[in-house]
Amino acid sequence: MSDNTVWHAHKICRQHRESLNGQRSCLLWFTGLSGSGKSTIAGVVEERLHALGKLTYLLDGDNVRKGMNGDLGFSDADRIENIRRIGEMSRLFVDAGVITLSAFISPFRSERAAVRQLLQDGDFIEVFIDAPLDTCESRDPKGLYQRARSGEIRNFTGIDSPYEVPESPELHVINDGTRSPSEVAATVVDYLRDRRFI
Ligand code: ADX
Repeated sequence: MSDNTVWHAHKICRQHRESLNGQRSCLLWFTGLSGSGKSTIAGVVEERLHALGKLTYLLDGDNVRKGMNGDLGFSDADRIENIRRIGEMSRLFVDAGVITLSAFISPFRSERAAVRQLLQDGDFIEVFIDAPLDTCESRDPKGLYQRARSGEIRNFTGIDSPYEVPESPELHVINDGTRSPSEVAATVVDYLRDRRFI
């Protein structure tokens, strides 16, 4: 526990960094089942933003779990801690004036709500990448669903671990294979443009 510490307000703050970066920062939080296309869509959105001269950073489930969160597994408690750390890290990136994209299953409503609470009103944009379980399972890009069905992997989201569908995400994006990643990503970029984030 970090008792006996006092917050130090430094002179250079988010507004200074945002103006240096020439942009308004925010957090795009992509949530959805494994194989729903979160990382792919987030990657295409990031490419578009980069091409527009925006400073971005993409935090991605599999990558972060190879580094900072390499000590965490997939029990409920570990997923809660995973999202808590990512939330804190995302907050730092937003404070750095960066348009931050976080792509994690983040299966629990309460943890997504907790990340929302960490940020100022309007800075947290929940993007629900909605693909039916059978679509994700037939894609199975990493062969994990097959291993979960055979019992080799336990606590797999959508199989024997729950996914709580967002109730009121800022963006509900259907990614059932009928549109290309590029078309789906365009709806996210349009949202940012309509709300004057970019
Ligand atoms: S979260 O639930 O804690 O938000 P996170 O997004 O970091 O999950 O990691 C999910 C990725 O880990 C999946 O895309 C998949 O590649 C891999 N993975 C390995 N085991 C599991 C599991 N039991 N459940 C879900 N994903 C798993």
